[in-house]
Amino acid sequence: MNVSTSEIKFVERPGQQGGKAPAARRNPWKDVEEKFALGLRNHWYAILPSDELPLDKPVGIKRLGADLVVWRDAEGQVRVFEDRCPHRGAKLSLGVQQDGGLRCWYHGWKFDSEGQCNSIPSEGGECATSKRVRVRSYPVEEHGGLIFAYFSSDDSPPAVPCQNPYELESPEWNGFIVRHHWQGVPWIRAMDNLIDPIHGPFLHMGTYTLSSNKGHTDTIEVRKNPDDSYFVGRKGQALVNFDFTEYHFPNWFRLDIPYPWSAGPGGPMRILVLVCPIDADSCQVYMVRKRKITGWKWWLWKALWHIRLEKKMWQVIDQDVAILSSQDGTTCLDHESLVQSDAGIATMRKLFREAAQAKEDRP
Ligand code: FES
Ligand SMILES: [Fe+2]
Repeated sequence: MNVSTSEIKFVERPGQQGGKAPAARRNPWKDVEEKFALGLRNHWYAILPSDELPLDKPVGIKRLGADLVVWRDAEGQVRVFEDRCPHRGAKLSLGVQQDGGLRCWYHGWKFDSEGQCNSIPSEGGECATSKRVRVRSYPVEEHGGLIFAYFSSDDSPPAVPCQNPYELESPEWNGFIVRHHWQGVPWIRAMDNLIDPIHGPFLHMGTYTLSSNKGHTDTIEVRKNPDDSYFVGRKGQALVNFDFTEYHFPNWFRLDIPYPWSAGPGGPMRILVLVCPIDADSCQVYMVRKRKITGWKWWLWKALWHIRLEKKMWQVIDQDVAILSSQDGTTCLDHESLVQSDAGIATMRKLFREAAQAKEDRP
């Protein structure tokens, strides 16, 4: 299904048509974006790569504005709790894993893998009080080296299945999980960038293949796919640069970056990008970079990656973070003038506006 540009409401502000610099004016979209500054509830988010979680030690992280403790139970299953002990609020991530449970460091209260308190040592262990105490526990799944958690608005069970792009667990696809903490970049600014294929030859000019370009004038086409994701791509250019993205509401993308012969055999690099808000001013971005290669081709790519390709990737990431943090959070929204090439951003906003109207998705 094509999405016509008439469905996309471009932001025009007084003064634009007259050729004068427009006066800054609060953009109505800002209300929606601020509502979702800490994420959209009732969805799954990639919160941590599996290799950052030891078997025997809890890890404390912040995601969607919440402090979380992530740990593994006796079976090695990942558990995610609120990182606050219900006794007197100490961080459970400072505690210890013991007999399949998590014990708070401060006074030793212990919680089972579901978050139920099963021991208060000063009261003799399990007791009437311990039976009444629980710590909030989040639904969690682990796929292809990433840990996902579900953030509900009211503690109800997941309303949608966990996102699990097929490349994550396919033996035909091999690659790397690259992780970035984007300080000064709200999660929606990061997603604006991922749904904007026009920026490649400008921002990334001079960096490996991302400088490749058939022409700066182009039209962005937006199509809805059968699985409800959106194709957002350049009409006049394909497989030259970062030319298309596939957006899966609310928080992940699939895209291909063409590779020259010097990157070894195996065709383009596929990137699955999963974005997770940390707080209103920063986000965690997981980029799963894969190629459909196995055997010696995969080993060759791995070698080339570590020798020189990874370094080039970080140059590109640094450029993205530098420009996105320069937008100054949501301040940029009061100074924007969207054009046709921003059709991907307009589409994403339409989906968020619809979510804002749906009561169940309110944070
Ligand atoms: S604060 Fe956790 S046991 Fe006291
Ligand atoms: Fe970029």
